[in-house]
Amino acid sequence: MSEQIFISGQTKQEKYAALLPQIHALTASESSMISNLANTCAALKEVFDFFWVGFYLVDGDQLVLGPFQGPVACTRVAFGKGVCGTAWKDKEVQLVPDVDLFPGHIACSSLSKSEVVIPMMKENQVIGVLDVDSTQLNDFDAVDVKFLSELCTWLVSLH
Ligand code: SME
Repeated sequence: MSEQIFISGQTKQEKYAALLPQIHALTASESSMISNLANTCAALKEVFDFFWVGFYLVDGDQLVLGPFQGPVACTRVAFGKGVCGTAWKDKEVQLVPDVDLFPGHIACSSLSKSEVVIPMMKENQVIGVLDVDSTQLNDFDAVDVKFLSELCTWLVSLH
């Protein structure tokens, strides 16, 4: 597998549609979850230039920072706290158009304005979350939710 990402599409949907099979190819034969999460972050950052994209992984009653791309971030998030902890507690995607309006949002960076968090489900349990932050308000929509959710399902299925 070539360790390069090629994207020809123009729209966000086209870019995701081109990217996901390449992430599949990049990760399918690697047994290390950390390596696969790390390369996934790098690929998402490269294609979409997200301000921050990364994984938090369940560690007891907290989420602990995993592979990511972007500025340094909070290392631990408690169950039910912030956007990430809420996605864990509720087992639901959190699409946050304005982080200042989300009660208890944890501001790792004051530059972050909107956010989407996808829970990673294995046997009906959350094992981690994928968190993407933007410096623009309302920067994520159903297209991001659809493809990022598919990506999480794929990554969980590998491990
Ligand atoms: N904003 C998140 C914390 C993680 S950072 O965005 C990287 C939250 O409220 O859970």
